[in-house]
Amino acid sequence: MENGELGQVYFGSKIHRKSAYDNLVIREEHTATPAWKMDQPDFQPELIKQEYASFGKGDFRYPAFQITADNGSRISEFTFEKYTLTAGKKRLAALPSSFDDTNDDAETLTILLKDKVTKIELDLSYTVFPNQDVIIRSSQFTNRGTQTAVLNRALSSQIDLPDANYDFIQFSGSWARERQMVRTQLRSGIQNISSLRTASSHQQNPFFMLARPQTTDDHGEVFGFNLIYSGNFLDQVEVDQYDVSRILVGINPAEFAWNLAPNESFQTPEAVISYTDQGMNQLSQQMGAFYMQHLVNPHFAKQERPILINNWEATYFDFNEDKLMKIVNAAKTLGIEMFVLDDGWFGHRNDDKTSLGDWFVDPQKFPNGLAHLADRIHAQKMQFGLWFEPEMISIDSELYQNHPDWMIGAPNRQLSPGRNQFVLDMSRTEVVDYLFEAMSKIITSTKLDYIKWDMNRNITEMFGASLAANEQLEMPHRYILGVYQLYNRLITAFPSVLFESCASGGGRFDLGMMYYAPQAWTSDDTDAVERMHVQFGTSYGYPQSMMGAHVSAVPNDQTGRITPLKTRGDVAYFGDLGYELDITKLSSTEKEAVKQQITFYKKYRRLFQFGNFYRLDNPFENDGNVISWAVVNKDKSCAIGARYQLLNHPNPAYIRLRFKGLDPAKKYVINHGTEKFYGDELMHAGIFVTRSLGKTMDVTDSSDFNSRLFILTQKDD
Ligand code: GLA
Repeated sequence: MENGELGQVYFGSKIHRKSAYDNLVIREEHTATPAWKMDQPDFQPELIKQEYASFGKGDFRYPAFQITADNGSRISEFTFEKYTLTAGKKRLAALPSSFDDTNDDAETLTILLKDKVTKIELDLSYTVFPNQDVIIRSSQFTNRGTQTAVLNRALSSQIDLPDANYDFIQFSGSWARERQMVRTQLRSGIQNISSLRTASSHQQNPFFMLARPQTTDDHGEVFGFNLIYSGNFLDQVEVDQYDVSRILVGINPAEFAWNLAPNESFQTPEAVISYTDQGMNQLSQQMGAFYMQHLVNPHFAKQERPILINNWEATYFDFNEDKLMKIVNAAKTLGIEMFVLDDGWFGHRNDDKTSLGDWFVDPQKFPNGLAHLADRIHAQKMQFGLWFEPEMISIDSELYQNHPDWMIGAPNRQLSPGRNQFVLDMSRTEVVDYLFEAMSKIITSTKLDYIKWDMNRNITEMFGASLAANEQLEMPHRYILGVYQLYNRLITAFPSVLFESCASGGGRFDLGMMYYAPQAWTSDDTDAVERMHVQFGTSYGYPQSMMGAHVSAVPNDQTGRITPLKTRGDVAYFGDLGYELDITKLSSTEKEAVKQQITFYKKYRRLFQFGNFYRLDNPFENDGNVISWAVVNKDKSCAIGARYQLLNHPNPAYIRLRFKGLDPAKKYVINHGTEKFYGDELMHAGIFVTRSLGKTMDVTDSSDFNSRLFILTQKDD
């Protein structure tokens, strides 16, 4: 811009490139609005779309960053110095990040700006991934001066859209009902979602969309935003007096400040931005494809995830080796591939009041050691997984006896327990070292295949004992950097261990975690009906392979609801399938049904976990009674649709399920029947749902109106 700072020109559908777009850069003098200079009265920062705005020089909207210089001044003027353009995208050092390791799918633009007074440099980084229509943005501040400055605020991305005709679509909830879709029209002023829990949170997910009011899953313009970060975040839209919508995404400025000493840098997390004019199904698919290629650990990204059995809801804390082996043996005969031992195997943990931090095996439960159990599981040709909650500490633990100062807590204050436990100071190297050593020992001795990394409470009385008074606001970010460091060390030392992240279910279901742990426990609510909503909401921002989805017992532990085993399977198939019940207690008919479910899932696993996901009937937009979705494989030769109906009505209207994403010219049979249907027929005319279709198989039992699967297989003439 005229003042040497960066302005924003346009963001949206691709348009032709020109050397200037005067039509998009408005300079129109408004009286009573501060101007940059006497002789340039029409250059008024408040009326100009900014690229990465500061505060205090006439733009009164909330800024992307703010720095306090050593004299207390909070004015910055970052002016353009130079830019560099490189192929590919490098990983960030201390933060989870996107990457293009092969340098062939992205281009990175870095713009260097300088503040001449403070001598602070600002690198704005933009990576364009044209094949997925994704842009990654982040900022880095480097102090080249001689005085320490304080970063009060450092967001990852700002976009000033020229109008406000959008709906803000967020995914909100609570424990056991995560990521419910909420759609509201933008209005004048500030609207935001955020977290101050030092976790991305059950309450608000960092993923959100801005869609035109008429945009649906199938049509229309929509922007998607996310943040590759697991700590406190802010997603904010400010609609100003001229209906310009300023979008800010990044670390929550509340509970944040960073001392930027001479020669030090601060790197923000990366924001993910995507756009399409073809509706929200397209947006979810392009962002999902991006994560699988440029965020998730390549070792696991394309690997089919094992079908697991988890003992939590089967035994809770009450187990020993014999009891577990009965579950393992039964699981083996049904085709399950991995046994996951949940909470309670360490210290003397028979309830949730004790032993967190003591990551060595409980000799009462395992007199022969944990490796003995692991060997027996591996001898069955099954994988072995284990639950840890590394970031936590119980007062009743050896760890607390030895290192009471490792626990987070403000001095001279009553400390607030959460689930009877407290949190370790992950900002301290010695804590990360201890956890790495303790976990490594168990991983090595048990030849562990998988870790469920849980995190069951948020942090209170935040205080870092090793930090100075003026560094205390660095704690929330330093905490999460410590978590990332431990993850990083573990995945580097044990590259074949699959991690699943968990935070009382989906309390840390975010892209920061997904960088290390390719999948996450979607929700502690395993009720099939509730899960339809949770998985439907989650699907907007995250692909199926990121969602752990389990079949549990009925009546369901969280809701008391009784659903058929078939329905529970029909929902859990659309994620990483697992079982979380005492299978030794199932009748022989139920065991046979589970066996069939597993055989069926294995046959279509790649499609379920990695197929393109299409939302068909949205329970958040209809009366909630009907939910349907479908997965389609890459060459569109196979698809599976699911339609769930909660309540039946007598004498119903004719119901048709319309598929999406099929090849219009291909012919398909339904549920291995003989009648052929064109793809366009299935998409536009649809399937008549109340009619019995094709051959009846147990897993697709077409007599079960409430939960139906439709398997489409291409059949040429
Ligand atoms: C959390 C998890 C559960 C289970 C328990 C164990 O609630 O979400 O899946 O692991 O902890 O204490």
